[in-house]
Amino acid sequence: MSEAGIDRIGFATTSLFLDMRDLAKSRGVDPEKYTVGIGQAEQSVAPSSQDSVTLAAAAARDAMKGEDPGEVDMILMGTESGVDASRAGAVYVKELLGLPDRVRCVELKQACYGATAALSWALDYVSMRPRRKVLAIGSDIARYGLNTPGEATQGAGAVALLCSADPKILKVEEDREFLTALAADFWRPTYSDCAIVDGHYSTEVYLEFFSRLWKRYKEETGRGAQDFEAFLFHLPFAKMGLKALREVLKEADPDRAEKLRSRFEASAAYGRRVGNIYSGSLYLSLLSLLESSLLEAGSRIALFSYGSGAEAELFSATLQEGYSSFLAPERHLAAINGRRKVGVGEYEHLFSDFLPSSPQDYSCDERYFAGPFRLAGVKGQKRQYEAGM
Ligand code: HMG
Repeated sequence: MSEAGIDRIGFATTSLFLDMRDLAKSRGVDPEKYTVGIGQAEQSVAPSSQDSVTLAAAAARDAMKGEDPGEVDMILMGTESGVDASRAGAVYVKELLGLPDRVRCVELKQACYGATAALSWALDYVSMRPRRKVLAIGSDIARYGLNTPGEATQGAGAVALLCSADPKILKVEEDREFLTALAADFWRPTYSDCAIVDGHYSTEVYLEFFSRLWKRYKEETGRGAQDFEAFLFHLPFAKMGLKALREVLKEADPDRAEKLRSRFEASAAYGRRVGNIYSGSLYLSLLSLLESSLLEAGSRIALFSYGSGAEAELFSATLQEGYSSFLAPERHLAAINGRRKVGVGEYEHLFSDFLPSSPQDYSCDERYFAGPFRLAGVKGQKRQYEAGM
């Protein structure tokens, strides 16, 4: 029986954010539609010098603080904002972190499910090699386009999970239930830098997948709502997870339902401010809940991962004794609180200043250089990454 799980959780986002009330005003929408109806307060905004690689490297660096890089055998990066159709973003991450060459680097893609695939592979790997570690990362920038319904659900960030056979934070159970079925709910053709989405249909598929997996999970494990201290969801926006949670709340007694509701709120706290970070989103919910200090060691939590297209997985994890001393709430809150607010005009300018999809050279705007790693530009069709000062 595997004891593998998550040893450390790293997080990174950009240095800029947009207030949803400012966006609502500019779009002629009632601000409560965004803040209550969708459930988002802010979204991180990415200048072109921040991409899925720089965010992944920053989150991985955060997860690796005080760790021995020589123990890491693999970097598995789940992303749907990959910067190259051939080379894995994880190769750049390895270089930026200065990890030894004796490491495997791979990128995995299936919309927001990518990081769960990475985690799954990482856990199986470390179970077989108890002295080795694997970094599983989810890193993305969610882009729907200016003046689109999806605009209020954009965001940018990364979460890195350092996995080991003797985890300090949580043990991931082997009760994984999963499901794939072709759905035209959300996709991004290679010619487009923004996703195409059938928004209302995507929420229907998400809920249907949760329902099917929850039913199957209960049948396979004999567990129900009463057996969990919290339910965590992929959170493209906070209201989405709440809609799925309602199905579980109907089956819980009033005390349990109240607990699950308040823990859901704690799990959505970081995401409400960072926005959808696609593949890392479920794990940002995990971090947000754990850093709220509401749960005791030994608590069992359920995790629902969803990636459009569509694929989903429901599994559980158990918190380890002393887990909270391996978290870094001050550092992660400082990353969120330390962002600079941009107005709608500046956000629109940054949104439209992205790398040309042609062989010409490009320099990123130095005024937006921030964070431990950045993309300086593209020269001779080669991306120029740098460590910050
Ligand atoms: P919309 O169609 O503009 O919004 O965009 P709406 O009209 O459906 O309203 C949203 C909510 O606000 C509704 O609440 C309204 O009632 C409420 P609900 O009925 O849903 O509970 N509302 C108000 N509340 C308070 N005061 C008001 C007010 N007005 C309205 N004045 C939509 C919403 C989600 C469709 C859009 O933002 C979108 O397309 N987002 C992107 C797609 C998405 O996030 N889908 C989620 C499921 S798919 C997924 O999670 C995968 C994904 O992460 C990608 C991947 O896997 O890679 C997206």
